[in-house]
This record gives sequence, C-alpha cells and structure tokens, in this order.
Amino acid sequence: IRHAAGHALRLVEQLRIKRAVFAWPDALGSTAQHSDIVMAVAEGTLLGGYEFDKYVSHTESKFSCQEVALAVRSTTAAAKKALLEAQVISQAVNDARDMQNDNSDDVNPKKIEERAKKIAKDAKIRMTVISGDAAKKAGLNLLQAVGRASPWPPRLIVLEYFGAAKKHAPLAIVGKGITFDTGGVNLKPAHGMLEQMHLDMSGAATVLAVIRLAAQLKLKTNLIAAMPIAENALGGNAYKPGSVYTAQNGTSVEVTNTDAEGRLVLADANAYVAQRYKPTAIIDIATLTGAVLIALGEHHAGLTSNHDDLSNGLFNSSRTTGELIWPLPLTADYRAEVKGKKSDLVNAVLSKSARADAIQAAAFLERFAGEYPFALIDMAGTSMRSYKRGYTPEGGTGFGVRLLLDYIKQNPHGPKAKGWGSRGLGRYGR
Ligand code: BES
Ligand code: ZN
Ligand code: ZN
Repeated sequence: IRHAAGHALRLVEQLRIKRAVFAWPDALGSTAQHSDIVMAVAEGTLLGGYEFDKYVSHTESKFSCQEVALAVRSTTAAAKKALLEAQVISQAVNDARDMQNDNSDDVNPKKIEERAKKIAKDAKIRMTVISGDAAKKAGLNLLQAVGRASPWPPRLIVLEYFGAAKKHAPLAIVGKGITFDTGGVNLKPAHGMLEQMHLDMSGAATVLAVIRLAAQLKLKTNLIAAMPIAENALGGNAYKPGSVYTAQNGTSVEVTNTDAEGRLVLADANAYVAQRYKPTAIIDIATLTGAVLIALGEHHAGLTSNHDDLSNGLFNSSRTTGELIWPLPLTADYRAEVKGKKSDLVNAVLSKSARADAIQAAAFLERFAGEYPFALIDMAGTSMRSYKRGYTPEGGTGFGVRLLLDYIKQNPHGPKAKGWGSRGLGRYGR
C-alpha cells in the first residue's frame, strides 16, 4: 500500500495535478486495521513525494502537488491519530534524507553538530558533544584516528531521551556518521562509488531522526542515540595502515585497512555508551560494507546479532514497516577471523577481498558492546538507492527510521534479558 501510494503521488505530479483525492476499495481492510491502512497511504504519499531538487534550476521539471485528501469510510479517532503520526514521521524521514543528500562540505562534522543541536533544542532532548581534549580523555582514540586529517575535527554526539521511569535502563542506538569516506590512505578506487560517499553519515541521520521522533511522539521509553562523526579524509596527517590504536574500552586494534573506518568509529561509540549507560541493548546502524550490497542488493539490509530476542524483534518491525532486513549468522568462526597478531583485533580481515565482511564487521563491533545484547544493521545497500521505486527515492532513503521507531514502540524497555542467540550461538560461544 505504501509503495502504491508513493507511485500514485508521482503519477499525480507527472500529470501536474495540484490537488488530488486518494480512495481505495474497502477490501483492502480485510487483512489490516483501518488506521494502519490510513497510515500506510499517508506515509507512502508523503515519503513518495520527496525529491532532492535543491540544486536543480530548470523549473519545468519542478512540480509539487499541493494537497492530497484521503477518502475514508469513517474518520475514527484512531485514523486521525494515524494520519497525524504519519505526517510527523514522514517529516523526520524526509529531513534525514535532506541531510544525507546534501554536499559533504555542507553536511560536515561541525554542521551535523549544529543540526543536531537545533533538533535537540526543539524536541527538548539532552545533548552532549565530546571532542578535542575531552575525546582524548575519554579514550576515543579510534574516532580521533579516523577523523584527524579533516579540517573539521571528529566528535561523538550523544543524545538522551528519558520518557519512562529512570529504573528502566535505556536502549542505545548508534549511527555511523562519516561525512565523506575517501577510504583514507587505502584510497577508494574511481569505481568505488566515491560520488556516493557523502551518504556515509546515513546511520547518524537515522538515529537522530529516531530520537527526535521518540521525543515528539512522547514515547514511554528511555533512549540513547550516539553519533560518532568524522570525515575519513586524506592528508599528511591521515592515520595509516599498520598502525595500532587503543579503543575506548582498552582493546587494541591494528588498522589493516583505513577504508574500514566505520567499524572503528562505531567501536569507540559502542564502548562509550556501554560503559556510561549500561543499556538494555546496543543497536548499530551503518552504511558499513560493500559486502552487504553484494549479498542483498538494495532491498534488504543485513542484520547480524548475538541475541535472538533482539534479532527477532527487529525482524518483526522490518516486516511491519517495509524497511526490510535479513539475518546473517554470527558464530565463532567469524569471531576468530577478526583477531589480530600484533593487536587484539584487526579492523579488516583481507585487504583485497571482502569475504563475509558484513559479518566480520559485526564480529568486530560486538567486542565493544560489553555484556549487552548487540545487533548491527548494515544498510550500505538500502540507505542509498540507484533508482526510485514506490515511495523510496533515488539517493538517500532515510532507511531505518521507521524500522527502529517501530522496534522501540513494540519493545519500549529493550529485548528480553534472556535470549542469547541460538542463531548467534551465544555471545562468545560457538
Ligand atoms: N562506506 C563504506 C561501505 C560502503 C560501500 C557503503 C559502498 C556504501 C556503498 C565502508 O567504509 C567501506 O569502505 N568498507 C570497505 C571495508 C573493507 C575495506 C574491509 C568495503 O566494503 O570495501
Ligand atoms: Zn570506508
Ligand atoms: Zn565508510
């Protein structure tokens, strides 16, 4: 229904229709609640109408429909609430898409901090930023290493929303915020999707939108959103392959590839939130690996977790929201592969071939999530699209916002404590 509504809106705009009415047969209601259908039509319309045309000057291609009315059989309170909620959610998703799509020089680490500050102020969310000497003191050495060749220093932005009683530990969502990924000294090849790499901060855009929505919708949940922000730039000061750095939790990491920078910045952020907040679980969301794009294309994100209840909850939310994810295994064989020779861990297993790299990245990141259930959503394929389809635009899609929001609504206090995975086969087990 979402896809149909998004497609319909595009047709309406192609026909240059300013005001339209969308109606649908009652039969649609046979398998879903009336309010769910209203929500899906509204979301599909509002998300499908998105276009990033900030830099387009030929006005003949610019047209936006001004008003869509939904013809419903009954305007129940639930349907009205669904419509309002669809508007709030779609606005946040479209804002995330804007942040993804704009130039990396404009959406640089400093500008992301400014945007986050404004959103936090409007939604009354507490925000802290750790950078410079404070980052050094906090031991965020991996984040520092990745971001040090950029004119805009790296930083860890942490947002806190407490909408439930303090006795409930918060859930932590952590989004990769690389404002541009050159690959560093292991420079990306010309065909390495370089012109897409301003989208490498998509995870940060997603978690920022999610916490904003949790506050706007006054969800009775406790939530931490952490955004490690850095530009993986080139320069005389850039971090180098073969160097060993010590992460926030004391784990030493040999940088075997400077292009595997996402897991480095996420590692420090995970370790920081694990130590500071003792969360119910840590969910990383990131444009992390080319490998997941090869495995699943642009239609499913990869889900790797060591905890079945967390993993199943995310999977169910993916089915509800249409932001699809698919599970990958996480077992001792992969965990063994990320161990180092001159360090505890290596950030990339093979310099040329990226075999099971999406899983190896999760095996690496898990080591920084302390004793807490951990999941990685690798959305390298789904957060940036090469063509429009249904309600998803070309370019930044805002993937994960509705998925994580639904997970939080269904599991306001995180996953069940018991549930260490049979799929993941335990935390460090086989
Ligand atoms: N940002 C990239 C992953 C990516 C690739 C996102 C294509 C979207 C589209 C990430 O930082 C990266 O470069 N990963 C490397 C890891 C490898 C060196 C182990 C990759 O996937 O090649
Ligand atoms: Zn990279
Ligand atoms: Zn990257």
